[in-house]
Amino acid sequence: METQVEKEAPSGLELFYQTLLQEIYWSELHLRDVLESMEERASTDELKSAFRNHREETSNQISRLEKIFYLEGMGAQPMFCVGMQGLFDEGWQVIDETEEGSAHRDAALIVAAQKVEHYEIATYGSLSTLAKTLGFQEAVDLLEQTLAEEKKADGTLTALAERDINAEASIEAVSEEQFPVPDTANITTESEPSVNTMKAGITGVDAGAGSKSTREGTEASTPGSAEALLVNDDGTPKAKKKNTRKAKV
Ligand SMILES: [Fe+2]
Repeated sequence: METQVEKEAPSGLELFYQTLLQEIYWSELHLRDVLESMEERASTDELKSAFRNHREETSNQISRLEKIFYLEGMGAQPMFCVGMQGLFDEGWQVIDETEEGSAHRDAALIVAAQKVEHYEIATYGSLSTLAKTLGFQEAVDLLEQTLAEEKKADGTLTALAERDINAEASIEAVSEEQFPVPDTANITTESEPSVNTMKAGITGVDAGAGSKSTREGTEASTPGSAEALLVNDDGTPKAKKKNTRKAKV
């Protein structure tokens, strides 16, 4: 009688590894479109080219993930990633709140993109560590290749910011619409007691960590809410989100 070989049930760690893979796969698929939007909105050729190059790398990273899914014996199935969606949403806010063609926008786009890169670096670094533990050496090699690309992309963005974009943005005047004169008399915060304590010269206090501004219109959009979504599930960009955060501090 023929003996049927049953696949061993995966460990909790392996299931977690698979979930992380699915989430970063979702992120990379959407990131291709996000990087295209960023390239369109950037004003310098160097920054456009940095976004374009990383978009091409992202396509290779997607292929590597698909290979890892194959090695895992599972289909390539994307899973919504709430962390990355929040960062995509921040990217839209940057575009909403900065003037087209300004160095300010380029500097802010770099920050938004670097937040994404750092999230990816953390994810791929963790995935590589998990794959090592699970004994998936081929996956480790693929994940490390992608990790190196993410770090390089991050470095390229830092170099562009430091070379001239941030300096240009620092001397660029903003319009009054972008920077309304704040009504400082009516600003109240929950951290006032801490601020007062600091004023009294006592150090080492929590200077308002977790405090929430009570000025109107500064609340972030609800993570995962429909209006916070930058892209549809099929990867097409959503309509531009209405700016709800005009005040700059
Ligand atoms: Fe990536």
